[in-house]
Formats: sequence, C-alpha cells, structure tokens
Amino acid sequence: MEIIIKDTYEQVSCAAADVVAATLHTKPNAVLGLATGSTPLGLYKELIRMHQEGTLDFAQVTSFNLDEYVGLSRRHPQSYHRFMHEHLFAHVNIPEPNRHVPSGTSDNYREYCRWYEARIEECGGIDLQVLGIGGDGHIAFNEPGSSLGSRTRIKTLAKQTLEDNARFFESADDVPRYAITMGVGTILESRRIVLIANGENKAEAVADAIEGPVTSMCTASALQMHRDTIVILDRGAASKLKMIDYYEWIQANQQDAPR
Ligand code: PGA
Repeated sequence: MEIIIKDTYEQVSCAAADVVAATLHTKPNAVLGLATGSTPLGLYKELIRMHQEGTLDFAQVTSFNLDEYVGLSRRHPQSYHRFMHEHLFAHVNIPEPNRHVPSGTSDNYREYCRWYEARIEECGGIDLQVLGIGGDGHIAFNEPGSSLGSRTRIKTLAKQTLEDNARFFESADDVPRYAITMGVGTILESRRIVLIANGENKAEAVADAIEGPVTSMCTASALQMHRDTIVILDRGAASKLKMIDYYEWIQANQQDAPR
C-alpha cells in the first residue's frame, strides 16, 4: 500500500485525479471503477476540469460503478445513477453504452448481479478502481461482516451507514435498507485501486483499514491483500495512523529511493 498524506481535501482530489489521468494517458481505453458519496466530488470536479481543458479524453473509457440503492429509480434525486450523471457523466465524454451503474430496480437481482460481474470480465476487468471508505470501514456497500471473497450482490445496510447517509434524505427512515454492491472479491480483482478519504470522522476507519488486522469487520482492511493500492488522505483522515511519520518520510524521500 502506498500512503499519501495531503494538507487539504483539494490536494487529495487533485492527487487522485492525477492517478486517474495517468491511467488514461497510458491506456486510453481503460476500464474505470467509480464511486459515489461526498468524497469523490472533488476528484470528479478535477477530472471535468482536465477534460474541459482538453488534457483528458474519455472517448474510449468504460466505467463500472460500485453500487446503487435498491428501490430507487435512475431518476430519483438520491440514486447513484443520478449522482453520476450530475457529477461526472454529463460533463465528460464516456460513451453512454460504456457506462455501467448497477440497477436498483431489477426484478431478478440474482441474475442481474451475475450479469454485472460477467460484464466487468467481458470488458477486460477494472484497470483502476476509485474507492471511498465508510465510517464503519466499508468499501462500496460491503458492510462489517461481509465476506472478503464476496461478489456483486444485495446487502442490507448497517445502522451506521443508514445514519451517515440520512443527511441526503428527508429522514433516516427514507434511506433504503438494501443496496446492490460489488463484492470485496470483485473490488480486489481491480488491477489498481485508489482509496481517498478526508476528515477526522474517517480517521478511525482509515487506521483500522491500513494498520489494523485484515478482518471482515472493516472490509477496507482487505485492501492490505491487494498488490497495487494507493491511499490518499487529508490530515484529518490520517490523524489516527500510528506510522504517519514513516509514510511521510517515504513520501518526502521518494526521489532517493533505490530503483
Ligand atoms: P462519503 O461515503 O464519501 O459520503 O463519506 C463514503 C462511503 O460510504 O464509501
């Protein structure tokens, strides 16, 4: 795991955008795994800026989103379909047929989840997966207790997630109780992963994920088993890391490291 600590959320977003841009510059037809939530908003803003300036082209990109609430139509204001449209898809040139967001309105989820997995494989697998982290250490909607080998499926949302996401709905009761989500196993098959987090409210989950034991009680800790994960944090999110001096020393002395 490479741990990068930045002073501000803006710097976290720009560093993550640079990772995405580097992927597309070396592989213009890359398959991107995309996330929703408040964390990647700055990253998407930066990608849109790069696209508008003409330095980033998405014409050959394929994308797969991590998750969607069950029961919300693609037009629902809080659906992740709508989120992706508003915050990224409407502003960059990923061809419409290449964009995949799990359906929250399937009449056969078992079949649909199998199709989603098969479609990722058919497109060559995910080259770069963008992740946020939940206050309970979840990645996508893989709540504590999720199998670290899990695949795309329906999950029941945990109490903390319902509470965390209530801010987007009229009340906590309006937050859907179920979600369709890529599994931890699905995510771990991505060739490269970039996890971003900001704010002190994520510090404990981040410390558990990076420095705690690998456990299904913090599904982000499974990333310790992944061979190419970059974690980009602001100071708040990094504030409970025990090895913070070590990570910062590595960052500051990168130039001199043996190659
Ligand atoms: P957030 O959610 O970016 O809105 O904090 C992250 C997550 O739950 O994965």
